Amino acid sequence: MLSVLLSLNLSHLGLWASGLILVLGFLKLIRLLLRRQMLARAMDSFPGPPTHWLFGHALEIQKTGSLDKVVSWAHQFPYAHPLWLGQFLGFLNIYEPDYVKAVYSRGDPKAADVYDFFLQWIGKGLLVLHGPKWYEHRKLLTPGFHYDVLKPYVAVFNNSTHAMLDKWEEKAREDKSFDIFCDVGHMALDSLMKCTFGKGNSGLSHRDNSYYLAVSDLTLLMQQRIESFQYHNDFIYWLTPHGRRFLRACQEAHDHTDQVIKERKAALQDEKEQEKIQNRRHLDFLDILLGARDESGIKLSDAELRAEVDTFMFEGHDTTTSGISWFLYCMALYPEHQSRCREEVCEILGDRDSFQWDDLGKMTYLTMCIKESLRLYPPVPQVYRQLSKPVNFVDGRSLPAGSLISLHIYALHRNSSVWPDSEVFDPLRFTPENVATRHPFAFMPFSAGPRNCIGQQFAMNEMKVVTALCLLRFEFALDPLQPPIKMPQLILRSKNGIHLRLKPLHLGSGK
Ligand code: HEM
Repeated sequence: MLSVLLSLNLSHLGLWASGLILVLGFLKLIRLLLRRQMLARAMDSFPGPPTHWLFGHALEIQKTGSLDKVVSWAHQFPYAHPLWLGQFLGFLNIYEPDYVKAVYSRGDPKAADVYDFFLQWIGKGLLVLHGPKWYEHRKLLTPGFHYDVLKPYVAVFNNSTHAMLDKWEEKAREDKSFDIFCDVGHMALDSLMKCTFGKGNSGLSHRDNSYYLAVSDLTLLMQQRIESFQYHNDFIYWLTPHGRRFLRACQEAHDHTDQVIKERKAALQDEKEQEKIQNRRHLDFLDILLGARDESGIKLSDAELRAEVDTFMFEGHDTTTSGISWFLYCMALYPEHQSRCREEVCEILGDRDSFQWDDLGKMTYLTMCIKESLRLYPPVPQVYRQLSKPVNFVDGRSLPAGSLISLHIYALHRNSSVWPDSEVFDPLRFTPENVATRHPFAFMPFSAGPRNCIGQQFAMNEMKVVTALCLLRFEFALDPLQPPIKMPQLILRSKNGIHLRLKPLHLGSGK
C-alpha cells in the first residue's frame, strides 16, 4: 500500500515538476521575444546585412575571415549596422569615430550578455565590474601603474626577453620557420608575474605553463560561446561538454592564481619581507590588493581579491602577447620598416646590452610602427556596452537606453573614411602632425573614456623593450607557406600560429 501511495506521489511530483519547467520555459521565451522586439525596434533605422532566420549573423561571424567580413559590411553600411548572434542577442555594431565617441566618452556599463560569460573565470574584477564598486577598485589599483612603479619593470622586460631570445637562438639554428606566439606568451606571462605579482627570478614553472594553456582554452571557448546562441543560457551551457571543458580550464586557472596569492600571503608573514615592502616607495599590484581597506577599514574579500588577480593575470599577458607577435609579423612583412626600427634602436642602445627607462622616449620610429601594427592588428578586436541612457548620433539617428553596442575596433581601424589606403602599413600616420589632424576616437587599441585600459602604459613599455631587443638579435622574415590566419579569440590570434624565419644578426649589442 505504502509503495503504491509513494509511486502515485512520485508520479504526481514528476507531473508538477514537468509542468513547472514548461511554465518557466514559456515565461523565459516570452521574455526573450519581448527583448528581441525591443532591440530590433531600437535598431529600426539602421540597415544591415541579411540575417539567417535562426542564427542571425553568427554563421558568418564564426567563419575564418570574419574580421574582414565585418570590414566589408562597414563599407556597405558606413556608420553602423545591426549584428545578431542568434535571434535574441542583437548589437549595434559601430566603427565610425563620431559614433564611437558618442558611446565611449560616457561610462556605460559592459554588456552583461557577453561579460557575464567571464564571471566563472575572472569573477567580478575591474574588467567586468560597474558602478561604485568599479570606481572604488579603479581608484585603488591606479597607483599600481604609477610611473615610479613602472620604471623598475624595464629591467624585468629586458631579462625575460633575453631568456626568450636565447631560446630562439637555438631554434634559428634549425634554419626553418617556427611559431613565435607561444614563446612570446610565456615571456609575457613571466614578465607580468615578476612585475605585478612579485614572482622570483626563476623561469615559468609547470603550473605557470598549465595556466598558459588553460587561458588559451578559455579564450577559445568564450569566443565560441559568444558566437553560439545555443550556449548563451547558463543552465544549458554547464550541461554541455563545451561548458564542462570550460569549468575544467577555470579550475586550472584558479589553482594557479590561488597559489600566487597563497605564496605572497605566506611571504608577508615573514618579517624581513614585510620590512622590504614597507621600505619600497611604491607598492606593486599585489601589495596594493592585499593591503587594501575601504573607508570603513574593511579588507577586500577573498572573492574580490581572486577576481582582480585573475583579471590582471589574463589581461596583463594575453593582450601584450598578441601585440608583440603581430608586430613582429608586420616587421617581417615590411623589411624596410624593420631596418629603420633596427637602426634607431641600435643607435639608442650603443654598446650596452639592455634598455633603460630613459631610452623608451627616444624610440620614435619604433613607437610609430608599434602603433601602426596595433591599428592593423588590434589585440582586442571588439568590446561591448549596454546603454544606461539614450544616445543621439551625429547623423540624427539615436538608440534608447538598454540597447547593446559592439565597438568593432578592428573595423574602426580599417575604416577608409578616416584611414586613407587603410590596408597599407604606414607608420607615418602616427607623426604628431598627422595625429593632431585625426579624429581622437579613430584609434582605440586600448579603448577610450573612463573604461579605457588601465595597463596601457605598462603594455607600451613592454612592447617597446621586447620588440627593440628582438630586432637587435634577429632579422625576421615571412614563411610564405604558412601565412597567419587572423582569428578573434577575445584577443586577436592566428588560427595556425605566427610562423616566422629568424636570422641571427650578431650586432654586438642587444645581448
Ligand atoms: C597591448 C596590450 C593591451 C591592449 C591592446 C589592451 C586593450 C584593452 C581594452 C581594449 C580594454 C577595454 C576592454 C573592454 O571595454 O571590455 C582594456 C581594459 C583593461 N585592461 Fe588592457 N590592454 C592591454 C594590456 C593590458 C595590461 C598589460 C594590463 C594589466 C597589467 C591590462 C589590464 C586591463 C584591465 C584591468 C582592463 C579593465 C579596465 C577597466 O574597465 O577599468 N591591459 N584593455
